[in-house]
Amino acid sequence: MSNPREPAEVADLGAGLAKAARYRELNGQLAALFSGERSGVSNAANLCALLYELLPELNWVGFYFLQGGVLVLGPFQGKVACVRIAIGRGVCGTAAHRRKTLIVPDVHAFPGHIACDSASASEIVVPLLQEGRLLGVLDLDSPLLARFDRDDAAGLEAAAELLLQCSEFDRLVG
Ligand code: SME
Repeated sequence: MSNPREPAEVADLGAGLAKAARYRELNGQLAALFSGERSGVSNAANLCALLYELLPELNWVGFYFLQGGVLVLGPFQGKVACVRIAIGRGVCGTAAHRRKTLIVPDVHAFPGHIACDSASASEIVVPLLQEGRLLGVLDLDSPLLARFDRDDAAGLEAAAELLLQCSEFDRLVG
């Protein structure tokens, strides 16, 4: 007897592999881009540009850095955004508070979501953690519902880790 679920499972696996491979390639490019450069602001800015150019279906990629206990807007690609977000507020502040990557499939269903670009439908936020210290967050928005999954989380966490290993953030975080 045929199993109607089989094709979907095969297709999902294929999509997952393609995405993981895309992130491996992207993180290889990031490592090359960061080599010999320790400026946190420059490396963060180039990371945003590369992700925005290479990942499909995004309308915003950027950083918020922790300054005086508040998340403050850093380098980004996309429309102008709100500058300060309190820890615990919105998707960014919630991910920062929990110190865990947060995937929101529908931002309109997330209580307290802060809308910067009305086109945003889904979002992923990766906290930047260095030896247990919160430095900020990496935030990506998409105009598609449920754009981000665990493969995105793994790939973006690896990208954030690479950024932290290769850069100095003394002048951005305080
Ligand atoms: N949506 C975010 C705010 C930042 S923008 O998406 C650029 C939030 O709810 O924290």
